[in-house]
Amino acid sequence: MKLWGGRFTKPTNQLVEEYTASISFDQRLVEEDIRGSLAHVRMLGESGILPAEEVEAIAKGLEKIRDKVRAGDVEFSVAHEDIHMNIEKLLIEEVGPVGGKLHTGRSRNDQVALDMHLYVRARTVDFVKGLTDLRQALTAKAEKHIDAILPGYTHLQRAQPVRFAHHLLAYVDMFGRDVERLMDSYKRVNTMPLGAGAIAGTTFPIQREQVAEELGFDRLYDNSMDAVSDRDYLVEFLSAASLIMVHLSRLSEELILWSSEEFGYVELDDAFCTGSSMMPQKKNPDVPELIRGKTGRVMGHWVSLMTTLKALPLTYNKDMQEDKEGVFDTVDTLTGALALTAPMIEGMTVKEERMRQNAEKGFTNATDLADYLVTKGVPFREAHEVVGRLVLHCLSRGQSLLDLTLEQYREAHPAIQGDVFDRLQVENVTDARSAGCGTARVRVEATILKKKDDIDKAYHWIQTAQI
Ligand code: ARG
Repeated sequence: MKLWGGRFTKPTNQLVEEYTASISFDQRLVEEDIRGSLAHVRMLGESGILPAEEVEAIAKGLEKIRDKVRAGDVEFSVAHEDIHMNIEKLLIEEVGPVGGKLHTGRSRNDQVALDMHLYVRARTVDFVKGLTDLRQALTAKAEKHIDAILPGYTHLQRAQPVRFAHHLLAYVDMFGRDVERLMDSYKRVNTMPLGAGAIAGTTFPIQREQVAEELGFDRLYDNSMDAVSDRDYLVEFLSAASLIMVHLSRLSEELILWSSEEFGYVELDDAFCTGSSMMPQKKNPDVPELIRGKTGRVMGHWVSLMTTLKALPLTYNKDMQEDKEGVFDTVDTLTGALALTAPMIEGMTVKEERMRQNAEKGFTNATDLADYLVTKGVPFREAHEVVGRLVLHCLSRGQSLLDLTLEQYREAHPAIQGDVFDRLQVENVTDARSAGCGTARVRVEATILKKKDDIDKAYHWIQTAQI
């Protein structure tokens, strides 16, 4: 017998039962569901809606079910459709008809919203933690290799030399924005929908504030119709997750390029690579490749939920059951990617020598020669032209700018003096960029300190956040 069977004259068609059930995936919400029910039933007691003995019996029953679930002793059934009705059915089996009083003043519509708010709240904090661990790994690597200089690229062509630390710190900032986004969306996740009933509220004198307080919610929904039909917080979660994946994917792409023979800037730890079944020499960067590859599915989940929501009238519609699998898959995908990237960064070998060799080739100091002329009073446009000709000259002879003699320089422009050679060393080229957000060692050192402070603050936030 279905919990809602009273109005029906026929049993549910078998295919309909299977098609509409969500228990195969929403059993993942079992802890949240029981936690929410415990808070709800205690409030029913304190508001005088249910007598204390009944509350006691129901709460005990719920705790017992929770123990059984944790011990793996519970079998959920498709016949009871979803996690909410499965738990209620188990409760009635456990404590008898009084279990049927748990649902007083509540609907599955506000119940499922509560469960998802609780679930996503904890995952939001998990992701802030994962991102912060990764930021810490990147910052530590940056600090360790502060003197490594590699060519910076635009259009994937060598552009200007940059400190490897500066490059890694760019990711620290990208992931820092991801942390900010999650902390901001956390406010909306941490809003309690319970008490909305099916759509319009409840006739019982419930005390929502009490439930909210017990469950650690900062705010409550003001409108019952919004409370049961709002999925914005899931869209935000999937959107933040998509961008995190895009950032991880860009970093992965660089690791793949850098660990190739062609670049040779890093070597990934053997424990993080895999081999080829045919080619004995191969060591493949499968982990960053998969992170790059899995980015699409997370973006897909975001698009999918937006599409599900776009034409839904208020309030709850069964379409909304489709919000869960994408969120769960996103959690699994992102959890794995974050957990792997931090140790991969920690364990990779940085080939400073090779980076420097490449930084010294490819005329990455050409802008500096032009800037040098500007400091001697030459208009930038003219300086650009002079250096362009020198580059052309070097290219035809397989030379770099540092191979030219002072005579050759003076022939190109009389303003050039002996100090030009020093100015064009890669070290000095990077350190000349000490203004603003540049790559000079002093700037990078200051930034590392700032990021460490930021990371400490994030860890503090994690400790104080409600989960
Ligand atoms: N399994 C449902 C979901 O995930 C729970 C809410 C069902 N409410 C209803 N009125 N059918 O959306």
